[in-house]
Amino acid sequence: MKKGAVDRAALNTWWTDRSIPASRSGVREAMETLQITDTKMLLIRCFGLSLSDQYWIRPENSELAWENINFFENEFSDDIGDVLFGADKKPDPLNFSSPDNTSDGNLKKRWKIIDGKRCLVKGGSNPYRQQPLNEVIASEIMRRLNIPHVPYTVTWNKGAPYSVCEDFVSEDTELVPARRIIQTKKQPNNKSMYQHFVDCADSLGIPGVRDFLDRMIVLDYIIANEDRHLNNFGAIRNAETLEWLGMAPIYDSGSSLGYDKSVPMLRDGSEVVCKPFKKHHEEQLKLVSSFDRIDFSALAGVGDMITRIFSDNNAKDYMEENRIRVIAELTERRIKNLQTLADSKTHKQTITTDDEVGKNIAASYGDTK
Ligand SMILES: Nc1ncnc2c1ncn2[C@@H]1O[C@H](COP(=O)(O)OP(=O)(O)OP(=O)(O)O)[C@@H](O)[C@H]1O
Ligand SMILES: [Mg+2]
Repeated sequence: MKKGAVDRAALNTWWTDRSIPASRSGVREAMETLQITDTKMLLIRCFGLSLSDQYWIRPENSELAWENINFFENEFSDDIGDVLFGADKKPDPLNFSSPDNTSDGNLKKRWKIIDGKRCLVKGGSNPYRQQPLNEVIASEIMRRLNIPHVPYTVTWNKGAPYSVCEDFVSEDTELVPARRIIQTKKQPNNKSMYQHFVDCADSLGIPGVRDFLDRMIVLDYIIANEDRHLNNFGAIRNAETLEWLGMAPIYDSGSSLGYDKSVPMLRDGSEVVCKPFKKHHEEQLKLVSSFDRIDFSALAGVGDMITRIFSDNNAKDYMEENRIRVIAELTERRIKNLQTLADSKTHKQTITTDDEVGKNIAASYGDTK
């Protein structure tokens, strides 16, 4: 709403934002196969249905009912997912009923029903294709630290890794990304994004926000996450009652551990970027209100765990021994830094407007074919 009236422009933007981003890896080829000029054209073919929220459109005078078409409870077609993963178009007419038409993000991905569960299958970007393995490493670190998270596993297809995770949204809930939460109030010029986010979340009544942010910032420091933009975390609410259930478990932590950097760049470290609050991880760490809930002893041997996961025989074309060693060492070093900071007892949460992130948008990756 804008000044008490329906804001049609905002509704249109929201609808357009529901489509597959033009920056998605492999989307150009998929559009050629499907003979469409804009991914927006796919939206109405699935009534805008998604597996991350409950919104949809129903043609006027139609008898369609949510119960019969939502993807949480009803099956969906593999056709669009196949095309997004590079398959040639089948001769038969395609079945466009798929949550892939409304999926966000720049990495190649598709939804699959595996053993009756809705799962998101997501690739990595060239040259190292690290993201799927990074998701597994991040899951393990969060498991050890008791951080609510989406568990990821890895699967290999035609020699390439893909991460697999279950849908964390259900037929009763919806994911509301942080980007939407910060739009519920106007951000004053003199207020930091961190403080603005906390204020918006407090006004909405989302429980556990500070604790969540402490843990997310700590995780992102440990794994040197470079892409925690405002669509890569959010809150969950009941879609019927609109009751806020809390922050969503942490998802999409793959663009981390120097995923796109050569060994000299990894060692140098100066090009590591940070989001969503501060441009540098060291600055973002100052926003942590307390390290008390981080059990550092649970992180013993993280370097060995990283080495083991990257040394998967399937990964040998992408990950060299030296690269693995440097990533493991640098991660161990960050954990040590963090522990020193936590032990020093001099740490005090410092919220300023210095070093704020400018454009909080997703990294785009070259085409992964
Ligand atoms: N397990 C899940 N359950 C429900 N929705 C999910 C799940 N994982 C991801 N999503 C939704 O799908 C979107 C895209 O997924 P994800 O962020 O993992 O992809 P990505 O390509 O890595 O994104 P980016 O552009 O940030 O790199 C998320 O922003 C979120 O809205
Ligand atoms: Mg994402």
